[in-house]
Amino acid sequence: MKSEPFAFEVRGLRKDFGSLRAVDSLSFGVFPGEIFGFLGPNGAGKTTTIRMLTGLARPTGGRLFFFGEERTADVKAVQHLMGIVPDDNNLYPELTGRANLEFCGALYGMPRKERQERAEMLLERFGLAEAAGRLFGTYSKGMRRKLVLAAALMHRPPILFLDEPTTGIDVASARSIRQLLDDLRCEGTTIFLTTHYIEEAQRLCDRIAFIAEGRLVALDATATLLASAREEGAIDFVVEGEAFSLKEPLGRAFGGVTCRVEGDTVSVRSAEPLRLTPFLNFFRDRGIELREARREKPSLEEVFLRVTGKAPEKRAKEGGGRP
Ligand SMILES: Nc1ncnc2c1ncn2[C@@H]1O[C@H](COP(=O)(O)OP(=O)(O)OP(=O)(O)O)[C@@H](O)[C@H]1O
Ligand SMILES: [Mg+2]
Repeated sequence: MKSEPFAFEVRGLRKDFGSLRAVDSLSFGVFPGEIFGFLGPNGAGKTTTIRMLTGLARPTGGRLFFFGEERTADVKAVQHLMGIVPDDNNLYPELTGRANLEFCGALYGMPRKERQERAEMLLERFGLAEAAGRLFGTYSKGMRRKLVLAAALMHRPPILFLDEPTTGIDVASARSIRQLLDDLRCEGTTIFLTTHYIEEAQRLCDRIAFIAEGRLVALDATATLLASAREEGAIDFVVEGEAFSLKEPLGRAFGGVTCRVEGDTVSVRSAEPLRLTPFLNFFRDRGIELREARREKPSLEEVFLRVTGKAPEKRAKEGGGRP
């Protein structure tokens, strides 16, 4: 896979906003036809990176390549190769859903008949056919998100940039968008995706990059990221009866581990590999009946927490700047 040329690549990418370095020495490449997840806490620099990659913001430093050619100074020249779903909705509220799509098609130079047909097909595909004649401004949040995605697909771009495409939409719509992304990948589209839904990334992405404070902190195949974390040590113990009273003594007996207790289950997590025997002795010494002990596969969420030092939940913007 490594020998293939990248669909696009960034080298030493940097963006400063005054004294704030929002993106710092970022280097990675995205292979044609993969779904590449770009994950990080709020303010990590994801949107800023997408804006540079799509020609909406100028890098302070570094280089951008598309299909092997340097485009640092003229990203706009390759914009026709991109579909862009920004984190906000970029369509016209005073136009209908259908007119918005046809307008986007016109911008990309699609002949009238083709753009009309493509618009109808996409409206149908996103369940917006009935709302096609209504103004975009009157759409619900989820409908707006879907139309923005449809607009990005009008000109059949080989590369799709998606900045939190499923944020704020209902479960069924999110599922249909994930299905669509899967289908697009099968058709060969290269997809660059940011999301705060870690399960979405785990399910969809071939590879995942984690960024924190503008820097790349991990980049690997999703399966490899999960496998590497497996060694870290995560064991769940199910005891006879209520386990809550064990939390404190466990914490005292085993330094460096975190324990979470829920009902009859004690979840022990550690950055170091955990051996089972000391825990079995701990329970035996206290006369506690153990019903089950199972090694848990850590989730991508735990990997995220470990490499970025922050929880992946959506949090309020901090109003710019970081110390
Ligand atoms: N136009 C701007 N002017 C000044 N600072 C900015 C600007 N755009 C972004 N920033 C700052 O750059 C940093 C990165 O922001 P960015 O929007 O790229 O983060 P993000 O990873 O997309 O976060 P989120 O998950 O909240 O969308 C933040 O500290 C932000 O305040
Ligand atoms: Mg963002």
